[in-house]
Amino acid sequence: MSINNEVSKRKTFAIISHPDAGKTTMTEKLLLYGNLIRSAGTVKGKKSGKFATSDWMEIEKQRGISVTSSVMNFTYDDLHINILDTPGHEDFSEDTYRTLTAVDSVVMIIDSTKGIEAQTIKLFKVCRMRGIPIFTFMNKLDREGKEPLALLEELEEVLEIDTYPMNWPAGMGKGFLGIFDRHGDQFVQHHPGDTETYIPNNELSNHKDLIENPTFKDAQQELELVTEAGNEYSEEAILRGELTPVFFGSALSPFGVQVFFDTFIHLAPSPTSRKTTLGPIEPDNEDFSGFIFKIQANMNPAHRDRIAFLRVCSGKFDRGMTVRLARTGKELKLAQSQQMVASSRDTVDEAYAGDIIGVYDPNAYQIGDTLLVGKNTYEYDELPQFPPELFKKVTAKNVLKSKQFRKGIEQLVQEGAIQLFRDQMTDAFILGAVGELQYQVFTYRMQHEYNAEVMLESIGERLPRWLKEEQVDRKLFDSGNLLVRDRNNQPLVLFRNEFALNWFKDKNPKIELIDLFEVN
Ligand code: G4P
Repeated sequence: MSINNEVSKRKTFAIISHPDAGKTTMTEKLLLYGNLIRSAGTVKGKKSGKFATSDWMEIEKQRGISVTSSVMNFTYDDLHINILDTPGHEDFSEDTYRTLTAVDSVVMIIDSTKGIEAQTIKLFKVCRMRGIPIFTFMNKLDREGKEPLALLEELEEVLEIDTYPMNWPAGMGKGFLGIFDRHGDQFVQHHPGDTETYIPNNELSNHKDLIENPTFKDAQQELELVTEAGNEYSEEAILRGELTPVFFGSALSPFGVQVFFDTFIHLAPSPTSRKTTLGPIEPDNEDFSGFIFKIQANMNPAHRDRIAFLRVCSGKFDRGMTVRLARTGKELKLAQSQQMVASSRDTVDEAYAGDIIGVYDPNAYQIGDTLLVGKNTYEYDELPQFPPELFKKVTAKNVLKSKQFRKGIEQLVQEGAIQLFRDQMTDAFILGAVGELQYQVFTYRMQHEYNAEVMLESIGERLPRWLKEEQVDRKLFDSGNLLVRDRNNQPLVLFRNEFALNWFKDKNPKIELIDLFEVN
């Protein structure tokens, strides 16, 4: 089969949500469609504390720390589906953000009883700045939640994205009747026991009980209103990430999931060209290329291997092939390659644009590295620096080990495990991370890989805002709002909180404060 054919079959996406909105439940349902698991409940058994059967997770269990953002792939409707996990809860880290650079679209799950929550906003911002198409699933319709119109309004106001409801719910909770599937011109009726039947619009008149139900009529009226006053459907706007198609349903029941997935999977884009230093590279370009978006160091001392996660962007990957590392020009053989699925860590023999493979890292790679073959050497766009939130001062426990300490920090920062800042006044080392997990990994690796025990002193959650060099004025900052420099020596301020930030803005309207979420 031609490369082009293979590429057009690829659908690579991530599911983003706030913890407990239903990401795991939805993932399980999709894996069931792909016949990848036999029964739901095997992806992650939260209550039983039992992990899924994957070797990968077994490795994590040995380490005691769960670090993975795994990749699951299966065939559905002759399409090759790749789902990338975006770890939340205590696993939330920069890797969660970086995973979003490797996907072609995103499914955003919102708990309709709660509306938009904090972690969803952060992940959404990353998708926004990268122009990734976003499909919304309003979950938990089997419960009494917020009104559908209010949910759409919330999406538009809080996330500033246009919405287009692909279906419309009739009732919710106990009185839930089903959904009007606007895209499929049918009504999906909900029955006790969570089964669903599909009634084409032109046959609805045969279902008197249903269409005369006041809940059905109310929903029909609402839908008319939405059709008249709402946004127009535009596939171009969806693909630009400016309009999000909204689906209603319940991942647990499951209800509306099949309709959602069938529609989503055909609207979601296949891999397209990606920017490089030599201009855009098409996914069906004959020459293999890809970039590394995540490196996972195994913390089990018996298995010191590192796995680099590579997103294939063009050409064909063959196991054992020799590629060039664009940054250094060095040739490397990709001998061990793995693809992570829910049930096993399989060896991959070939892969195409859109696929994610795990390659053995002989300590040669950095996050953002481009691997390629062919006569041209280019690099994919640098991965953005994401704004950290948790900051800690770090010092060596043993001053005699300061050499190891510096080497360890330098390498881990370069690898992208954590961000480093220097206090402008005292020159102290300040670390920045997106989640607490990054500190656990950092501390562990400093001790075990560099023999340098560290002491961390929290300076709490901060709001980092970058400044222009010419606007740096030491007098303006006290120890409360720290003035620091990043690893590129760019100045920034770590504001204590929103209040301190707004107060500063009021006092110094001429100073331009840059939020990384907005510039990347
Ligand atoms: P997450 O991965 O986004 O953190 O969420 P997860 O799927 O684990 O779901 C969080 C909780 O919400 C789970 O309940 C799950 O069963 C429930 N849930 C998910 N989808 C729906 C839905 O459509 N309707 C309802 N009513 N509940 C839903 P739990 O009691 O916390 O855990 P569990 O014992 O069920 O795993």
